[in-house]
Amino acid sequence: MRALIARMPKVELHLHIEGTLEPEQLFAFARRNGVVLSHPSVEALREAYRFHNLQSFLDLYYQGTAVLQTERDFYELTMAYLERVAAQNVVHTEIFFDPQSHTHRGIAMGTVVDGITRALKEGEQRLGISSKLILSFLRHLDEEDAFVTLRQAQPYLDRIAAVGLDSSEVGHPPSKFERVFAAARELGLPAVAHAGEEGPPEYIMEALERLQVMRIDHGVRVVECPGLVARLVEEAIPLTVCPLSNTRLRVFPDMKSHTLKQMMDYGLKVTINSDDPAYFGGYMTENFLAVQDAFGFDRQTLLTLGLNAVEASLLGPDEKARIAERMRAAVEQ
Ligand code: ADE
Ligand code: ZN
Repeated sequence: MRALIARMPKVELHLHIEGTLEPEQLFAFARRNGVVLSHPSVEALREAYRFHNLQSFLDLYYQGTAVLQTERDFYELTMAYLERVAAQNVVHTEIFFDPQSHTHRGIAMGTVVDGITRALKEGEQRLGISSKLILSFLRHLDEEDAFVTLRQAQPYLDRIAAVGLDSSEVGHPPSKFERVFAAARELGLPAVAHAGEEGPPEYIMEALERLQVMRIDHGVRVVECPGLVARLVEEAIPLTVCPLSNTRLRVFPDMKSHTLKQMMDYGLKVTINSDDPAYFGGYMTENFLAVQDAFGFDRQTLLTLGLNAVEASLLGPDEKARIAERMRAAVEQ
């Protein structure tokens, strides 16, 4: 099964590009850009990656973004991620970026988008990885700031496939962003949102009804509300679950306590993703291995997880069919 997980073509739907900043690269960018860091070494920084909840992680994650300053930084960050996951047989990836974490430091939207998308284009040509870029609004900021961000993104909409919502969840319900998501919809952008990671099931409901999202990021707290589970099953709403993220951020005490298997048994369209792999101890393969170790899934279940991601992606029907065929072939081999 471990060999199968390694060779299976994989689709990633929940990945924050800023969350792929490995400590070594963070220190290299800091040196290049003259940024003084609060941790003395790579080892000391890694040592600090012991989180007790989402906020304790976000505090370090936003600190880390300070080293990202030039188009070249964003290009190299994204290229390094693509090289790593190419080696794990990721064939398609949908990538969040948090523009406000950069524009608030005086970095132009164009610098960020140009660097990321230059790497994505090269990743497609040289590594054969297709991709979509998702602009994510920071929910701890107000809706007016999200509107400013959407306006700043307008010249780049040919390279942005959707909008998302992330950052500190509790106290910042999806309804806070209803108008800006409506404006994004007017621009033709589909929507996704983090909901039910630490926040209550009501936030999942709000994301569906008020933001009209096509999928839910995390959504693990859905199991607390049977009526909502039934609705997500009925409407086939995909959930981008991030197993190592959930255990590292103490949403669950350990992988065996994760509700992933229960969610699959309910018939929910669950997918496996890495969220912020540099901070949570693993990319796609490590996430699949962690759930495999905890639940001992059979081939068919692994294939279902993979195919769910293909189906839930922003790809067109032909591209979906092509990747699904490759996945089936790898599993039957
Ligand atoms: N930003 C980066 N990772 C996140 C997560 N897991 N939840 C909310 N916001 C995030
Ligand atoms: Zn996330």
